[in-house]
Amino acid sequence: MATPPRVFHDPALLRSEIRQAQADGKRVGLVPTMGALHPGHLSLVAESQKSCDLTVVTIFVNPTQFAPGEDFTKYPRTLDADLELLSEYDPVWVLVPEVDAMYPPGSTTEVKAPEIAEPLEGTFRPIHFDGVATIVLKLFQVAPADAAFFGQKDFQQVRVIQEMVRDLLVPIEIVRCPIVREADGLAMSSRNRYLSPEEREVALSISRSLNEAAQRIEAGDSNAEVLRDTIEQSLRSAGIGEIDYVSLACPRTLKPVETIEGDVVILVAAKVGTTRLIDNVLVSPPAS
Ligand code: PAJ
Repeated sequence: MATPPRVFHDPALLRSEIRQAQADGKRVGLVPTMGALHPGHLSLVAESQKSCDLTVVTIFVNPTQFAPGEDFTKYPRTLDADLELLSEYDPVWVLVPEVDAMYPPGSTTEVKAPEIAEPLEGTFRPIHFDGVATIVLKLFQVAPADAAFFGQKDFQQVRVIQEMVRDLLVPIEIVRCPIVREADGLAMSSRNRYLSPEEREVALSISRSLNEAAQRIEAGDSNAEVLRDTIEQSLRSAGIGEIDYVSLACPRTLKPVETIEGDVVILVAAKVGTTRLIDNVLVSPPAS
C-alpha cells in the first residue's frame, strides 16, 4: 500500500521532530539527494529501512557544488514523481528546503573539503567537494540522524564525507551502498536522461571497460598502467573523445597504484557528448 511521505519545508521543524522520534527510541536514517530519483537513490532508502525505524530523504539541488557553466539550472527537478516513488517506502519523511533555508542570506561560512577531495574529481571540479561538504554538514545539522547512506557510485564523495565526519567529530555513521546499474550495465544517474539513444550506446563502454578490467584483475593481471591504457583505448574506440581520468587507485587514499597487490578501485570520468559521467568498480585480486 502506497503511503505518501510526510513532507517538510522547514528544517527547524524537521530537526525537532527527528529529536522527538529519537527520544521515543527510534533509529533514524538519512538519505541526502538532489532529487530526480531513480532506483539507485531508492536502494539507499531500502538500505536505511533495513537498520532504521524512520528514513529521512532530503531533496535539494545544492547550488554551491556546481561551478558556473555546469548543469545547475538544467538539473532535472521532478518533485511530484520523486514523492510518488518514495510513497512505496514507509515511514519516510522528506525535506524539500528553499535555498534561503539552507543558506541564510548573508551567510559566508563554508566547509573546506578534506585533502582526499583534491585528486580525480577535484582536479576537474575544483569547488565541487567544498560545496558538497558544506551542504552535507548542514543536512547533518538539520537532520541529526543516527546513520547516513551514500552510494558507491560517487566513490570519492563517500571518502570526502567519511573524512569530514571524522575530522569534525560529527556523531553519525556513514554507510556506503553498492552501485545500482541498468540491465545492460550503465550506472544509474539522474544525468543519464541527458543522453540521446546514440550517446547512451557510447556511454555503455564505460561500465563495459571497467568490467573487463575487473575480470582481468580477478584473473591475476596486476600491471595498473597496462590496464589503464586498455580502458582508455576501449573508451576511445567506442567514440568517447573527452576522458577526464581513468585511475586505478587505493580505495582508502585514492592514490594511484602501479602494481595491484590488494583491493583497488578503478575510477572513470568521461564526457559523452556534453554529458559528464562517472563510474567505478571495486576489485580484489586473487589471493596469492
Ligand atoms: P545525487 O547525485 O542525487 O545522489 C544522491 C545519492 O544517491 C548519493 O549518495 C549517490 O552516490 C547515490 N546514487 C546515485 N546514483 C546511484 C547509483 N546508480 N547506485 C547507488 N547509489 C547512487 O550525490 C549527491 O546527490 C549530492 O552530492 C549530495 C550528497 C545530495 C549533496 O548535495
